Amino acid sequence: MVPELVPQSRILGIGAYAPARVLTNADLEKMVETSDAWITERTGIKERHIAREDETASDMALVAARRALEIAGLSPSDLDMIIVGTISGDVPMPACAAYLQRKLGARPIPSFDVSAACAGFLYAMSIADQFVRSGAHKHVLIVGVELLSRLIDWEDRTTCVLFGDGAGAAVIGPASGDGRGILSTRLYTDANLTESLCIPAGGSRERLTTESLQKKRDKVQMVGKDIFKAAVKSMSQASRDALEAANMSTDSVRWVVPHQANLRIITQIAERLDIPLERFVINIERYGNTSSASIPLALDEAFRDGRIKPGDTVLMCALGAGVSWGSALVRM
Ligand code: ACO
Repeated sequence: MVPELVPQSRILGIGAYAPARVLTNADLEKMVETSDAWITERTGIKERHIAREDETASDMALVAARRALEIAGLSPSDLDMIIVGTISGDVPMPACAAYLQRKLGARPIPSFDVSAACAGFLYAMSIADQFVRSGAHKHVLIVGVELLSRLIDWEDRTTCVLFGDGAGAAVIGPASGDGRGILSTRLYTDANLTESLCIPAGGSRERLTTESLQKKRDKVQMVGKDIFKAAVKSMSQASRDALEAANMSTDSVRWVVPHQANLRIITQIAERLDIPLERFVINIERYGNTSSASIPLALDEAFRDGRIKPGDTVLMCALGAGVSWGSALVRM
């Protein structure tokens, strides 16, 4: 018999934050040619949270991070590293993680962003797991935060109805030998679909000019159908890979916490994995697609309301721009 994996790192605390302002489908009906019926049927989204004008990504990350630290029973001075998964940081340079470090009052520890869009939180978790399991660092704060409302063309109905703002965080630390912890993580990128989901201008490839701003090439552009197909296929496969790496089957999975991009994507993944939808944590109807924040937002919610209990095995999977995707199997 193949022995069970012994996790070397675990989630010590989780926290999340969503801005107070709620934008409903009815609100969107007044902004673009759309309807509550179309959005609900095609995506499952009913409302999303939108940040205040004066709010930044690091402000949102700060609230989530403090909550995660509180649950972990740690203070910012205990942190050895900060990793923020985001594509909508405070400024293009430096990293959102640097602003977060300052706001937390943490020591001068390595603090950096990972750019993996909706897969950002799982990328951060996988990196944190490597640093903790190697013994190089003890407490790593990981964050998924997006302020996508600033990167959306609010006149483009094909994208503006999908996204919302939010943040989620977790503190990763050494496992305590009781079987709880990160069992496996898997990360992937397929650059063939790079153009199907991107912000074309604003980097070294295409500079920001008056013309590019007029054409809104500084906003999210997406070929929804390509991403939909990739999401179903790749998130299902990555989930199987994470299970295989841990010598486990879907029977052992108590909860699946998928990236919340589209209820139809989640439903199709459930079918492919042959795991009943009832075992999926779904909150897309209230948050929309918050990109890298979506998994920790859902994880935090299900942990706080008692659905996910200590010792439950949780499977996570996400796909976003790149396209980059990944999975993680965690015994909570
Ligand atoms: N309201 C009303 N009608 C609309 C809207 C809208 N908001 N948006 C599009 N339509 C219309 C289209 O114009 C089209 O009309 P036509 O048939 O006359 O041309 C029709 O609805 C169907 O459009 P489709 O694009 O074919 O709709 P689809 O069923 O593919 O749904 C959607 C679109 C929701 C975007 C879906 O493709 C999707 O969820 N894709 C994946 C998104 C995703 O997973 N993103 C994850 C990563 S995000 C990140 O990394 C930051």
